[in-house]
Amino acid sequence: MRAKLISGTELSKIIRNSVTQRVKVLSSKGVIPGLSVVLVGENPASQVYVRNKVKACEEVGFFSTLDTYPSDISEAELLKHIHSLNANPKIHGILVQLPLPKHIDSTRVIEAIDPSKDVDGFHISSAGALVKGLPGFWPCTPFGCMKMLESINYDLKGKHAVVIGRSHIVGKPMALMLLDKNATVTICHSATVNLKEITLQADVIVAAVGRVNLLTSDMVKPGAVVIDVGMNRDDHGKLCGDVDFEAVSAVASYITPVPGGVGPMTITMLLQNTLDAAQKTLIP
Ligand code: GUN
Repeated sequence: MRAKLISGTELSKIIRNSVTQRVKVLSSKGVIPGLSVVLVGENPASQVYVRNKVKACEEVGFFSTLDTYPSDISEAELLKHIHSLNANPKIHGILVQLPLPKHIDSTRVIEAIDPSKDVDGFHISSAGALVKGLPGFWPCTPFGCMKMLESINYDLKGKHAVVIGRSHIVGKPMALMLLDKNATVTICHSATVNLKEITLQADVIVAAVGRVNLLTSDMVKPGAVVIDVGMNRDDHGKLCGDVDFEAVSAVASYITPVPGGVGPMTITMLLQNTLDAAQKTLIP
């Protein structure tokens, strides 16, 4: 049987509609959620990402700003801007698009963000909260993957989840979120020996490496759920993920497409986090 599709586009519509409704309620109480997106340099992929984020903010009724800086901005100047955003009551969420130019210490910049405005979930206090199972902002991409699993009522308890990739943005937080839902979690990475042996044992596979055809059908147990976080171009320049979509669809029970899968969910969870940040300002 062919795998069912988990559409990030469709799920995003549902969540963004609910965000729009909540924005109306908040606005009537005098709070308009505000997100500030900071872009340094002219990385074309980053330019597309930040434009999509700002557009999504406008669509749900947020206030948003896109602050762009040349790639030779000094770290001190960038930090000054972060401090001014921290102090701005109209801004509830701050997102610094990564990567930053090499002369800027991105850790120092991320740690300068007020943790109550860290809607990307990259601050060390957000990461610490996730490790300890405390409330805090979850990084948007793995948070979106969890929402996709929730949308099919998938019970992770006792399931074997295999995460391929160990980045701070996706792989590591993804593993912690799966663990939080009582899955048995394995993290695989570039030094993993015999990846296929491990993925064949998985009930859930999250592929987050950034390599075309990383996950092929012979690596997937029949009936497994496959989440594709990859965002690549194939030999013909077509957008694709890390998963051999057609062949794996014949083996898996559920699969996420690229495009229209995890990508839109990342932005949706950014909206959700920003809304939550704004909401918290109402609670004394
Ligand atoms: N670069 C790639 N993905 C992301 C993301 O989710 N947030 C930020 N800030 N930068 C990124």
